[in-house]
Amino acid sequence: MGHAWGFGRYGGPEVQEFFDRPDPVPGRCEVLIQVDVAGVNPLDHLLRSGLVDGLDGGRPFPRVLGMEAAGTVLARGEDVIGLEVGDAVFGFALTGGGTYAETTVLSAPNTARIPAGLSTTVAATLPVAGTTAVDVLDQLSLTPGATILVNGVGGGVGLAVARLAVARELRVIGTGSTAKREHAEAIGVRFVDYTAENVTAAARAMVPDGFDWIVDLAGGSSLRSVAPLAQDPRNVISVGDISVSDLGGRFVERRTDRESLERSARLALDGLLAPVITAVHPLSGAPAALATVENGHTAGKVVIKVT
Ligand SMILES: NC(=O)c1ccc[n+]([C@@H]2O[C@H](COP(=O)([O-])OP(=O)(O)OC[C@H]3O[C@@H](n4cnc5c(N)ncnc54)[C@H](OP(=O)(O)O)[C@@H]3O)[C@@H](O)[C@H]2O)c1
Repeated sequence: MGHAWGFGRYGGPEVQEFFDRPDPVPGRCEVLIQVDVAGVNPLDHLLRSGLVDGLDGGRPFPRVLGMEAAGTVLARGEDVIGLEVGDAVFGFALTGGGTYAETTVLSAPNTARIPAGLSTTVAATLPVAGTTAVDVLDQLSLTPGATILVNGVGGGVGLAVARLAVARELRVIGTGSTAKREHAEAIGVRFVDYTAENVTAAARAMVPDGFDWIVDLAGGSSLRSVAPLAQDPRNVISVGDISVSDLGGRFVERRTDRESLERSARLALDGLLAPVITAVHPLSGAPAALATVENGHTAGKVVIKVT
C-alpha cells in the first residue's frame, strides 16, 4: 500500500485528492519502483483536466498524477530487459501509473538506469524536459554562430534548450518575464523581458536579418508574434502548440525510448544539460508543486521528493 496524489475525475484543481492504493502490479513490460523523486510538468494538469487523451493508460479513477520519476526497482514484469530489482532508474510512466506516489509502475522500454554520479533528483527531471530539449536540438540544422530565439526560455524545457544551444556555440536570445532574467543570463542567454519591452522590436534590434531558428515553448499569441522573426517560416519549431503548422512551422517530434534517456543522462553528467531545479516539495506539498506549474510561469524545474 502506498500514498498517492491524483484525481477522482477530470476537472480543475478541485478534483485532486490524496489517497492510498495497493502497490501496482507491474505488467509484462513494466517495472514497479519505489519513487524517490517525481518531476512536475504542464502535461500533468492537462491530463487531469481531460484535455489530453491517450497518455494516461485509460486506468480507472482515481488516477495518480505525474509522468516522470526516478527511484528504485522493486519488481519487474516477465518481459523486461536490461533492468533488475534494486537498480536505480528514471523514466516515463506512460502506462498510467502516475508518479506522485510512494510506488508506481514505469514503462520499461521508456526507463533507464541512473548512471553513477548523476543524482536521483536531476535524473527525475530528464524524461520530459531533458529529452525534449535534446529532440529540439536534433531537429535544427545548426552551424556555430547560428541565431536562435527561445520563446519561453525560463521554464523547464526552455532553460534546457538554451543550455544545449549555448554549448553548441549558438547565439541564444531568450524571452520571459522579469524573474527569469537571472536564470537565462547565468547560462549565457541574451534576455528579452516581455513585461518590460516590445519583444519583436527588441529581438529585431539584436538580430536584424532574422533568426535562423525560433524554438517556442510559450505558444498562442506569443508564438504568433515571434514567428515572423524567423528568416524562414519553416524554421519555427514549437514544443507545446500544434497550431505552429498554420504558420508554416512544425511541432517537435518526440523520442521517449531508453536510448534517448541514456543520452540525456550522459549530457547531464557532462554538464551540458543541467536542469535548474527551483523548488523541491514533499509529497504532501504536491498541490503546491502542481499549482506553481499550472500558473504557467514556472522557473526551471519543480520536483516532488517522495522519500
Ligand atoms: N511535446 C512534448 O512532448 C512536450 C514536452 C515537454 C513540454 N511540452 C510543452 O511545452 C511547453 C513548455 O513546457 P515547460 O515544461 O518548459 O513549461 P514551464 O516549465 O511551465 O515553462 C513555460 C515557460 O514559459 C514562460 N512564458 C509563459 N508565457 C510566456 C510568454 N508570453 N512569453 C515568453 N515566455 C512565456 C513561463 O514563464 P514567464 O512567463 O514568467 O517567463 C515559463 O517559464 C508546455 O506547453 C508543455 O506542455 C511538450
